[in-house]
Amino acid sequence: MAIERTLSIIKPDATRRNLTGRINAKFEDAGLRIIAQKRIHLTKAQAGQFYAVHAERPFYDELCTFMASEPVVVQVLEGESAIAKNREVMGATNPADAAEGTIRKDFALSVGENSVHGSDAPETASVEIAFFFSGLELVG
Ligand code: CMP
Repeated sequence: MAIERTLSIIKPDATRRNLTGRINAKFEDAGLRIIAQKRIHLTKAQAGQFYAVHAERPFYDELCTFMASEPVVVQVLEGESAIAKNREVMGATNPADAAEGTIRKDFALSVGENSVHGSDAPETASVEIAFFFSGLELVG
């Protein structure tokens, strides 16, 4: 198994409810190391750029408005098979389908307000990490 890095975002529904620490504990308990982290307030244009791949989806405008509504915490997680492991810890996109003990099962409010985002593949992880962080900010 390879050591990977993945981009994680703690979304506005979770920062609003003061859940950053509890979500980070789930990452760390799963063996993922938080090697970069910052709290930022995205503009709607920045959210739109980050989620450009979803531009044609009916929920795109709602998604961008939500992601710019309040601060988010962006972070880089590192560990063995970090991309898949993070997806496992997050649970299914829709909290109604998420397994017991996952972040989305425990904290998400809906498919839109689903508390966390995680990269879905190595190629997207590199692009998404570079969207928010310079190499100097990644301290493994
Ligand atoms: P995320 O992993 O951040 O990637 C894209 C996001 O779009 C996804 O999580 C959901 O929060 C959001 N999303 C997916 N489907 C819907 C939907 N039907 N309505 C609103 N938001 C959605």
